[in-house]
Amino acid sequence: MAVHAPRALEAVVHAITLASASGGCRTFELRPVDGGSFPPFEPGAHIDVHMGPSLIRQYSLLGSPEDTGRYLICVRRTPGGRGGSIALHQEVAVGARLRISAPRNHFPLADAARHVLVAGGIGVTPLMAMAEVLARRQAEFSFLYYASTAAEAPLLEELRAAPYADRMEFHYDEVDGGVRAGLPAALRTADPEAVVQLCGPGPFMDHVIKEATAVGWRDDQLRIERFAPATPGAVRRDAEGSTGAEFTVRIASTGQGYPVPGDRTIAEVLAANGVEVALSCEQGMCGACLTPVLAGDPDHRDEVQTAEERAANNQITLCCSRAKSPELLLDL
Ligand code: FES
Repeated sequence: MAVHAPRALEAVVHAITLASASGGCRTFELRPVDGGSFPPFEPGAHIDVHMGPSLIRQYSLLGSPEDTGRYLICVRRTPGGRGGSIALHQEVAVGARLRISAPRNHFPLADAARHVLVAGGIGVTPLMAMAEVLARRQAEFSFLYYASTAAEAPLLEELRAAPYADRMEFHYDEVDGGVRAGLPAALRTADPEAVVQLCGPGPFMDHVIKEATAVGWRDDQLRIERFAPATPGAVRRDAEGSTGAEFTVRIASTGQGYPVPGDRTIAEVLAANGVEVALSCEQGMCGACLTPVLAGDPDHRDEVQTAEERAANNQITLCCSRAKSPELLLDL
């Protein structure tokens, strides 16, 4: 049976450093256990970090994509979160071994004449790798960073010392009211040749998108990455609150078909029938379970695919999406 698990890598925690004055964020430097190098990554990529059989979390890679001797992730401690950040902060020490995935990228740096990078809090991490690349290319870009306070802001020292520090603009809610006080100059007028790369908490991004759209930025100019589903529960339920009608999922390699009832996901049904699929976030956020679709009409409920990818209808996230057609044929 087809298995499409992302490649697993063994890493050792080489260093842990405080990444915010408040102590809420830590940077973990991971190195290959064999002392070699990790696979190269593109700016915007993330890795899965395995902290237990059902505790797999995604973290964006910061730092230079050319520095493959190590991966850097920054983790904000989130007491009300799903447990991944607490486990990393409390249970992982220097010298610990971690299983990680090879990098995946669902937030690539777009080709554009100009870029505006907009970060909210810990959303700064994928944008730092983008800024590294843009600075090296001597590209035209600005980097806007929003945080509640300077003490809470992750990676502030690193950003102030970065080779692109002169492109940065820092905004703190406690000082200037943050993004809700008004769009920054770089976004106030739509630039038809620029792309905005946006990463941060959902309400922050929703606000920036709404305000930027109102002044003329097009949808295809606003590239985002979310850390959580835009609407909690939306990955399983449609607008009416239903998980959707039953449909059949068919496996191309065997011809076997399995009914997917409204209260179960495709992934759950396949697992129950011995079909192994890669799962990670199980929230439609990471792309680990994206699977090619050969026939049928997917009902996309993920946050991973772009509007163009959704419209192409040739892949589906098995952890949360469903079908509009009576049957889906999967390339498994
Ligand atoms: S497991 Fe992450 S998108 Fe499905």
